[in-house]
Amino acid sequence: MVVRMSHFGDLLPGARVLLGPGPSMADPRVLRAMATPLLGQFDPEFTLIMNEVMDLTRFAFESENLHAYPVPGTGRAGLEAAIVSLVEPGDRVVVGECGRFGLLLIEIAERCGADVVPVRGEWGRILPTEAIAAALHGGPTKLVAVVHGETSTGVLQPLEPIARLAREHDALLMADCVVTLGGSEVAVDRWGVDVAVAGTQKCLSCPSGLAPVTYNARAAAALSRRRVKVRSNYLDLAQLGDYWSPARFNHHTAPTTMVYGLREALRAFHDEGRDARFARHRLHGDAMRAGVQKLGLELFGKEAPEHRLPFLTPVVVPPGVDELRVRRRLVADFGIEIGAAFGPLQGKIWRIGTMGASATRQNVLSCLAALEHVLRGEGWRSAPGAGVDAAVASYRDAGVRGEDVTESLGASGIGRV
Ligand SMILES: Cc1ncc(COP(=O)(O)O)c(C=O)c1O
Repeated sequence: MVVRMSHFGDLLPGARVLLGPGPSMADPRVLRAMATPLLGQFDPEFTLIMNEVMDLTRFAFESENLHAYPVPGTGRAGLEAAIVSLVEPGDRVVVGECGRFGLLLIEIAERCGADVVPVRGEWGRILPTEAIAAALHGGPTKLVAVVHGETSTGVLQPLEPIARLAREHDALLMADCVVTLGGSEVAVDRWGVDVAVAGTQKCLSCPSGLAPVTYNARAAAALSRRRVKVRSNYLDLAQLGDYWSPARFNHHTAPTTMVYGLREALRAFHDEGRDARFARHRLHGDAMRAGVQKLGLELFGKEAPEHRLPFLTPVVVPPGVDELRVRRRLVADFGIEIGAAFGPLQGKIWRIGTMGASATRQNVLSCLAALEHVLRGEGWRSAPGAGVDAAVASYRDAGVRGEDVTESLGASGIGRV
């Protein structure tokens, strides 16, 4: 049935606190940058902006790579660009999988005609390096592809040992850093990662729509050694790299507004500084985890806290509680969005993100208060206020206090009769 509407009203999305696994809340300064006027893509002012974006992308990836620029499209476009550009039909590709995004890498590599060797691990744990080593011993390998931050399970995979192995076997390492860039360290050069791909809508707090990538000279050499033409025009890294170079070989029309947004998001990262930014993500994740546990809830993947993503808290849905109804009530009553889960974890865990601009003390405390209330409606009991108290204590232990707004509120005379 076609629904005919006589009037299309103004776009007025409801107010939301985005505490899912992405998108996070857009940084207001990013949104302001995105509201500025367009420039033509070969305008010298715009090419200067492109150069700045490349410099800031190098900063974010801690890299001196020549190639550091955004692929048009979301994180998945960046992953696909890297794989379709590097892999030729029949190439052996070892892919680590212990979550949904490892499965995605397998899927993309298969579509590129690769001889895919999946290395499967337990969801909620990291991949053992020995398993990757065993797969590499199986034959000459073109590419090893792994997920740095597995958003589906909340696990942070150490990349350095895998990078070392890949080099020993003359293979390239590609890492999916979609969720980690801007939230925890991504030291591409120091770790020896050949290709890294990120996204904008997670810890960078920019809307989704670009995929920052960087690749080193080894990867660039592999691109130029290809025997068969890349089976994508739009996602051909060699062409994209020529566009994002002093030559500015024409390719797609630059998504100007997204480039502005990414520039601002990366500039905000640069202004905050890497250490301060990673510490902020850890601080709020720690407070969230402390609070959630005091609500009597269990953290998923608690066996290996050292491999946990600092900014994503996976929580086991307790028995007798309706997973979906809780999320619906959180949105309806509090405007707070948390995330569901995929595949074998669907219905079993929630994922609470404290990423980018969403990572604030107020958001953490509001979420815990709201969660306590909604869970009580589901028959789940915890000591009143225990979640918020635990988070406040976590902040206090870290030397962080709430902003003192009492004086200014009092001065406004609110509440006087
Ligand atoms: C680890 C990881 N890889 C890839 C993706 C896909 O990114 P996008 O949704 O931006 O295409 C996501 C998005 O959730 C992700 O978390």
